[in-house]
Amino acid sequence: MKAITHTKYGPPEVLQLKEVEKPTPEDDEVLINVHAASVHADVWHVVSGLPYVLRLMGAGLLKPKKTIPGTDVAGLVESVGQKVTRFKPGDKVFGECIRGHQWTNGGSYAEYVCAPEEALALKPANITFEQAAAVPTSGLIALWNLGDGTLVQAGQKVLINGAAGGVGAFAVQLAKAFGAEVTGVDHPSKIDMVRSIGTDHLIDYTQENFTQTGERYDLIFDIPGNHSLADCRRALTPKGTYVLIGHDNYGRGMCRWLGLLPRFFKLMLLSRFVSQLRNMNFSMPSKKESMATLKELLAAGKIKPVIDRTFPLTEVPEAIRYLKEGHIKGKVVITLEPDNKT
Ligand SMILES: NC(=O)c1ccc[n+]([C@@H]2O[C@H](COP(=O)([O-])OP(=O)(O)OC[C@H]3O[C@@H](n4cnc5c(N)ncnc54)[C@H](OP(=O)(O)O)[C@@H]3O)[C@@H](O)[C@H]2O)c1
Repeated sequence: MKAITHTKYGPPEVLQLKEVEKPTPEDDEVLINVHAASVHADVWHVVSGLPYVLRLMGAGLLKPKKTIPGTDVAGLVESVGQKVTRFKPGDKVFGECIRGHQWTNGGSYAEYVCAPEEALALKPANITFEQAAAVPTSGLIALWNLGDGTLVQAGQKVLINGAAGGVGAFAVQLAKAFGAEVTGVDHPSKIDMVRSIGTDHLIDYTQENFTQTGERYDLIFDIPGNHSLADCRRALTPKGTYVLIGHDNYGRGMCRWLGLLPRFFKLMLLSRFVSQLRNMNFSMPSKKESMATLKELLAAGKIKPVIDRTFPLTEVPEAIRYLKEGHIKGKVVITLEPDNKT
C-alpha cells in the first residue's frame, strides 16, 4: 500500500511517500481502508521529535518507533481481529488509531491502518469521511477538558480563548450543546467563522484583552495560554474554573526538552490550593464512551466539523507546513478518496 513514512525526526520534508506492507490487525483491532485523516499540532510534534521528552514517552528515542504518522482516521472497515465485536467489514467508522493518550505515530497517513476497536465509532450518515476524520483528537480534547459537560451548566458563561482553531471550534459547539452562553476569542480574520458555529459574543484578541473587560466567566477554556493565571482568575467568577489546553506555537514558545509540561505540573500543584483550578482527581470517560458521545452530537447536528483545507496523501508535508503557518480556521484534512461524499 502507499503510505507516508517517517524514519527520522525533523521538519516535514523528512516524510516520504513509499510502498509499504499492508498492516494486519491484532485481535482487538480493526483494519480500515482509509478515506480521510486529519492533521493537528501533535502530528507536528511527533514528526519533529520535539519536545525531546516525547521520545521517552513512546515516540521512539533516536528515531520514530512507528514509521507512519497520523492519528485520526475515517474510512471503511476492511477486516476485524478475533476479539472485535462492535464492527464488521463494510462499516463506515471514524476514530483514533493510537491507544490511550500516547504521543506517537498512529499510521493513518496510508491507504490502510489498524485501529483499536475501543477508539472507534460508526460514522454518522449525515457527515462525510473528511468531516468525520476532522473530529477524533480535537473533539476528544475539547470534550474531556469541558469535563464531558460536568464543568458547564446550562446558562453559565464560558469563554473559549482560541475559539477558531482545531480544538476551539469543537469546544465552542460543545459548550453551546451543554447550554452555555459562549464568548469566543480569536484573530479578526476568523471572527465570521467563530460566529458561524454559534458563538454568542466575540472578542478580537488584537483589539481587546478578555482579562481586562470587567466581564466574569464561569469557565475559561484557554487554548493559547497567553495570559497569566492571575489575570485569568480576575476574569472568573469566584466559583469559576480555569482550564489550560496550551499551545507552544510549534516549538516557538516552548522549552525544547519538556515543552509545556512544566507549566502543567505547576498548575497541578497549584490546584491543591486554588479552587478555580480543576481538581486533578477527576475521572475521565473512556475513549469508547467519548467517541460515542461525539458520534451522537454529530448525528444530532449539535456539532459540525469545520474544515479549513484538504490535501491529498502525497501532500502531507505541505499540510503540516500549512498548519504550522497558523491562521487556520478549524481543521486541515488529508483525503485519500476522490469521491468522499458519504
Ligand atoms: N487539535 C488537536 O487535535 C490536538 C491534538 C493534540 C494536542 N493538541 C494540543 O492542543 C493545542 C491547541 O490545538 P489546536 O489544534 O486548537 O490549535 P490551533 O488550531 O492552532 O488553534 C489555536 C487558536 O488560538 C488562536 N490564538 C493564537 N493566539 C491567540 C491569542 N493571543 N488570543 C486568542 N487566540 C489566539 C489561533 O489563532 P492564529 O492561528 O491566528 O494564531 C488559533 O485560532 C495544541 O498546542 C496542541 O498541542 C491539539
